[in-house]
Parts: sequence; structure tokens; C-alpha cells
Amino acid sequence: MSNLPPLLLGRLNHVGIACVSIDDAVAMYGRLFGATVSRAAFDLPAQGVRVAFIDVANSQLELIEPLGDDSPIHGFLKKNPNGGQHHVCFEVKDIIAARDAMRARGATVLGTGEPRMGAHGVPVIFVHPRDTGGVLVELMQEPPEGHH
Ligand code: CO
Repeated sequence: MSNLPPLLLGRLNHVGIACVSIDDAVAMYGRLFGATVSRAAFDLPAQGVRVAFIDVANSQLELIEPLGDDSPIHGFLKKNPNGGQHHVCFEVKDIIAARDAMRARGATVLGTGEPRMGAHGVPVIFVHPRDTGGVLVELMQEPPEGHH
């Protein structure tokens, strides 16, 4: 009855949240929710962001703030001066196959389309939000077992 292709989306790996200041965001998550950082802030120049992670029971929050003048987060913060939900990230079994499937299904992969190294040390791509109902979707290669 369904003509859908096989399910591409694996685990929800994280929700990306753009911040003016990671330090301020971490303080807020601590004060309001008792949450603590699971991975302290580090620079990810390949993506033009500084990143920190907060673990929750079944997923993670990825806090990102701009790194450098060319950071893609500057534009987002211009539209959302207090920060906000930036993207959702799903794991896929094979990032190249996922990239090719996105294109074959008519969606635009951002940048050159060549996967880039993401914050988890595995390759990622981003799918243009105009193709995904306004939500920036990150697809990441499934990390090796035990390294979620
Ligand atoms: Co992400």
C-alpha cells in the first residue's frame, strides 16, 4: 500500500540549539533543569561553531555559538537574537547513501554536499530547511557502538 522508500532516519542523536553564549545557556539549563554539561565547550572550526553537549536520558542537546566571522550561526542569531532551536540531528547508517538519497528525492544538501566532520567525530550533512518543512535537518553517520 505504501510506496515509501526504506526508512532513512535512525536515532535522534541531538537537538541543536543556537546560543549567544554557551556559558550563559549552560548556566540556565543548570539553574532551571539541574542539567550539567557532558562535554565541555570546544571549537569546531570546520562548522564555524563552538559546541558543548548536555546529555538527557535518551538524547543530547548540542549548544552552539558562533566561531569566527563566517559562522553560519551569525545569520540565525540575527533573526533570533536570544538564540533558539537551530536543527535536529538523526543518525543514518551510511552518510554517502543518505546524501545521495536526499538528492534523488529532490532535497538540497547544503554546502558542497561532501560530508563534513561533525561534533561527534563522524561525517555529517545538512538538508536545506525549505525542503524539510522549515526545520534544518542534520544527518550524521551512526557513531561506533558505545560512542553515542
Ligand atoms: Co548538530
